[in-house]
Amino acid sequence: MTDILDAGLLLSWYDTHKRILPWRQTRDPYRIWLSEVMLQQTQVATVIPYYNRFTDAFPDATALADAQDDRVLKMWEGLGYYNRCHNLLKAMRKVRDEHGGRVPDTPEAFSGLPGVGPYTCAAVQSIAFGHSLAAVDGNVNRVVTRLFALDGVVTSAGVKRAIQDAVDSAVSETRPGDFNQAMMELGATVCTPRRPDCSRCPLRSGCKARALGRQEAFPVKGAK
Ligand code: ADE
Repeated sequence: MTDILDAGLLLSWYDTHKRILPWRQTRDPYRIWLSEVMLQQTQVATVIPYYNRFTDAFPDATALADAQDDRVLKMWEGLGYYNRCHNLLKAMRKVRDEHGGRVPDTPEAFSGLPGVGPYTCAAVQSIAFGHSLAAVDGNVNRVVTRLFALDGVVTSAGVKRAIQDAVDSAVSETRPGDFNQAMMELGATVCTPRRPDCSRCPLRSGCKARALGRQEAFPVKGAK
């Protein structure tokens, strides 16, 4: 069987090539959640020191919930997108007040919290709790539109659906969190926006964009 998006190939590659990152040394759902919120619009290298300072100052959800807004916002300074920080604080206070200080371990309960959209829900619930949900971010959009040479505008309903369907069918039942992180890792380190390094890609043999020699044509961006 030659699946274009072969989870086995992807996971073997991830096992040997993944970067050692602080939030990959833990299964603590609070820490994983914090990392995913920070990583949403910010590069890994920038996030690392912030993540370390936050987890030192606020080791669990209740510690962050109990903190003064000013202090937390001050520590967030430089990460930008301050709405992420406000929502995170609101969510941690709900976790403290309505969930006994424990991060909800089902997608249904978790997705009801402030700032938790489909991406955050899938990422945290797969990585921390092993729920088989596929997370789609910008890296995943790039990898999938290239693998399948998806020609429509990446923000169109049709292409979004095709991307979600592709990752939903491929996501590992046994290692969904690693599957999601492997997709992001591939996009961040190999299947880069410019000059992707296809010789290092575990999925190169099935990649349609590579077969066409049109890697950089995907994802197709819409008119601004
Ligand atoms: N970007 C978003 N989530 C990530 C993760 N878990 N590891 C690396 N980069 C990411």
